Amino acid sequence: MYQVKEFNLSRLNGISDQTLEMHFKLYEGYVKETNRLTEAIAEILKDGRVDQEEMPAYSELKRRLGFEYNGMVLHEYYFSNLKKDGGEDPAGNSAFRKAVESNFGSFDLWKTDFTSVGKMRGVGWAICYLDPLHGQLSNHWVTLHEVGNVAGFIPVLVMDVWEHAFLLDYKPAERPKYIEAFFSNLHWQTVEERLSKKRHA
Ligand SMILES: [Fe+2]
Repeated sequence: MYQVKEFNLSRLNGISDQTLEMHFKLYEGYVKETNRLTEAIAEILKDGRVDQEEMPAYSELKRRLGFEYNGMVLHEYYFSNLKKDGGEDPAGNSAFRKAVESNFGSFDLWKTDFTSVGKMRGVGWAICYLDPLHGQLSNHWVTLHEVGNVAGFIPVLVMDVWEHAFLLDYKPAERPKYIEAFFSNLHWQTVEERLSKKRHA
């Protein structure tokens, strides 16, 4: 069973407490649903088999697992890479800056790529991943919660761009303003720690 994590987040810049509280509730829903699906699958497996007539229900539960699990985990990454009074660009000697300079040419170009992913149409996530085998960083678009994640890669920076992440504070067409606000609250230390694989969410 997964436990709902607590995030000590409030009074962010450009992302209201009302948004955060609503978002925490939504995240809680993913934790509960992940647990519920897991239990429902265990119930089917209880007699040691998946009968033919159980297969449609079993399949549907399994198909939904990816959505709920990723919804849970990605929100944990997202909330942990935010903090009050964050946002200062990483220093010149930071491992993240060095990595993006080597992979993208400059920090600004990396940021242009990441924010442009965030502005893509549709609901989903912009994620900067570390390829743990080669040390490369790359930015990806994830549709919903589960389509587009790269197996085995480590998310180092995760930005929610579903409309619920900003609709109480901005109009749907104002997503760029939300992205700006997101960056002004960034907890870069968490990003650095993920890069050095010291922590996950
Ligand atoms: Fe969200």
